[in-house]
Amino acid sequence: MLPREVLGESVTPDGLPLTLTREGVALVVRVDNVPLMSSRVHGSEEALAEVGCDGLREHAGARVLVGGLGMGFTLRAVLDALGADAEVVVAELLPSIVEWNRGPLGPLAGAPLDDPRTRLVVGDVIGLVKRSPSAFDAILLDVDNGPEAFTVASNAWLYGPRGLGALRAALRPSGRLVVWSAVESEPFQRALRAAGFSVLVQPVRARGAVRKGSRHWLFLGRREG
Ligand SMILES: C[S@@+](CC[C@H](N)C(=O)[O-])C[C@H]1O[C@@H](n2cnc3c(N)ncnc32)[C@H](O)[C@@H]1O
Repeated sequence: MLPREVLGESVTPDGLPLTLTREGVALVVRVDNVPLMSSRVHGSEEALAEVGCDGLREHAGARVLVGGLGMGFTLRAVLDALGADAEVVVAELLPSIVEWNRGPLGPLAGAPLDDPRTRLVVGDVIGLVKRSPSAFDAILLDVDNGPEAFTVASNAWLYGPRGLGALRAALRPSGRLVVWSAVESEPFQRALRAAGFSVLVQPVRARGAVRKGSRHWLFLGRREG
């Protein structure tokens, strides 16, 4: 095991330890000692942006919601996929994650918080979704390790009927929701369909373009009607 140099320590709203460590060349964020993300692999986080923003570059005034910030790989890929007049709202629950993005995490994805098209909301993506009817062309969710609460218990709401209904209502007509996951889930596909989405499930590799690494999943839901 590589030695862990602790760069930052905090707690989640549930009172669990949150750490940022350097492990060899990688930076790793853990919740309760379980990895939430590592800078070593980010191909599927970028694929989340590519699938979510497909066709939006030419779309005047495109608005995309990214939840959460993490190490900024998805946000960077969203910015790269969109035009100059786009707005990208990124919701990040944990102030320490934002602080670390202003510090050691910043250079990993080319400081996407500094892009003038980025609007950072420090807070729960759930509240933002609830107060944003018909606001987004795409909502890209990577707040847990899949459609089950991990970072905080309250995230479970997002993956149930009320949460999916609110996510659908926050989309513009023909908007799309994409949810990153480390696991395939038939029940989540059914929940998406029940909430009024047409569903496509796309396997992606953790190391993206080189097609290596473990398999991750993107659940793509298009708003029907
Ligand atoms: C797996 S990381 C995201 C990785 C990111 N896609 C990237 O490219 O680096 C999950 C992030 O979502 C944040 N998060 C978790 N629950 C959230 C919520 N309810 N609202 C906003 N952000 C949340 C976490 O604090 C963490 O920064």
